[in-house]
Amino acid sequence: MKKVITYGSFDLFHEGHYRLLKRAKELGDYLMVGVTTEQYDRLRGKLNVEEPLLTRVENIKKTGLADEIIIEDHPGQKEEDIVKYGIDIFTVGSDWTGAFDYLKGKCEVVYLERTKDISSTILREKLHPIIRLGVVGTGRIANRFVAETKFVSGIESKSVYNPHKENAIKFSLKFGLRAHYEEYEKFLDEIDAVYVASPHEFHYEYTKTALLQGKHVLCEKPLVFSGAQAEELYGLAKQKGLVLMEALKTAFCPGFERLCQIVDSGVIGTVCDVEACFTRLASEQSRERTDVEYGGGFTEFGSHTMLPILRFMGTDYKDVQFHSILDGQGLDLYTKANFVYERGMATSKSGVGVKSEGQLVIAGTKGYVLAPSPWWLTKYFEVRYENPGKIDRYEVPFYGDGLRYEVKDFAVQINSGEPDNRKFGAKESIALAGVMERFMRLRNVS
Ligand code: CTP
Repeated sequence: MKKVITYGSFDLFHEGHYRLLKRAKELGDYLMVGVTTEQYDRLRGKLNVEEPLLTRVENIKKTGLADEIIIEDHPGQKEEDIVKYGIDIFTVGSDWTGAFDYLKGKCEVVYLERTKDISSTILREKLHPIIRLGVVGTGRIANRFVAETKFVSGIESKSVYNPHKENAIKFSLKFGLRAHYEEYEKFLDEIDAVYVASPHEFHYEYTKTALLQGKHVLCEKPLVFSGAQAEELYGLAKQKGLVLMEALKTAFCPGFERLCQIVDSGVIGTVCDVEACFTRLASEQSRERTDVEYGGGFTEFGSHTMLPILRFMGTDYKDVQFHSILDGQGLDLYTKANFVYERGMATSKSGVGVKSEGQLVIAGTKGYVLAPSPWWLTKYFEVRYENPGKIDRYEVPFYGDGLRYEVKDFAVQINSGEPDNRKFGAKESIALAGVMERFMRLRNVS
């Protein structure tokens, strides 16, 4: 019996998939189809698969062409399967020509002509028209952002706004975007959604104007420095049926999502304490060290450290106290924020002029999670217990700058028409703004 195997996501099952399976089946007597999991698709950079795994498997079953369906969930599995199932022929569409020649030592490799003018990507684009995105600001993060959006289909950076004409033009030429530097409203007219990466103090105005003009907003952290302003913006987004998301990239990356699942599963018991630290020594001439109002350790990195605190301890803290080391102008080089909860506590350490170990520790009644630096990119973490010999280790891939994950979530929320508060929603974002406000107020007092 000649055994044939093929693999794919088979999202939004279409004619091209059917024809591929039919010809694959004709190559032998027994057809096995490997369907990728969501996690594996994400890992290989496919961030836009619409249908859940079971739907995709069901659709293949319905064709009656597959004798067996298996799940593909890790790199290197193809070689394993070929040996394990005694495969004679490996086949995929011609869009992959050459990519699987390395399997030739193990079985025959056949590339079947791809069906023209149909693909899951085309169907997804028909389902949801491409989201036209405008970028406000041309700084470091905006540069990284535009490069990262290229990895997410369904959303495209189209234009850039910066009131400084030269910066807008330079940025637009670099990325092939349309430059706007005069009227912000005009810039908004031509797009569906906006990414705000302006200096912090302008977030509120840019976000509010965009929402009032009916545009979805992804705004860099910290969204604003006032709980009331944050509440107003989220209220406005809700009223207008728009997505407003704070671009806290850690919240959306697969590793942090995994870490949340592990903690939520209860393996470490009840969470009682969270300690999160993020420091980066900034040059004395940098904005972080010279902008006395909006620079400094806490406004720079406090959003990162507060993410696990608000996520695992909640937004209802009883008290928060700040202790800072200030420079001569009153800018905080290092800040420790101590949160007190009804049943627990948390500490955030952030700095631009003091260096410390950038780790995250989530302590529970049965064990703790230790995520070493750079935990904010969440590539690796451990679950540890009383017994020092028992350590569960988790490694989750993280690609590029990681901004692609928040962009993908932003696009998914726009397309679904519903806010998704599971990762980092309005409640946490409003609480974060409230803590920032308190920090700014107390800092000015002292
Ligand atoms: N395929 C094909 N003809 C098409 C589309 C896909 O023969 N028009 C084949 C692919 O070459 C692959 C299999 O179907 O062997 C599963 O492909 P998959 O990547 O799931 O489908 P695509 O439509 O290519 O998906 P996407 O647009 O997301 O890349």
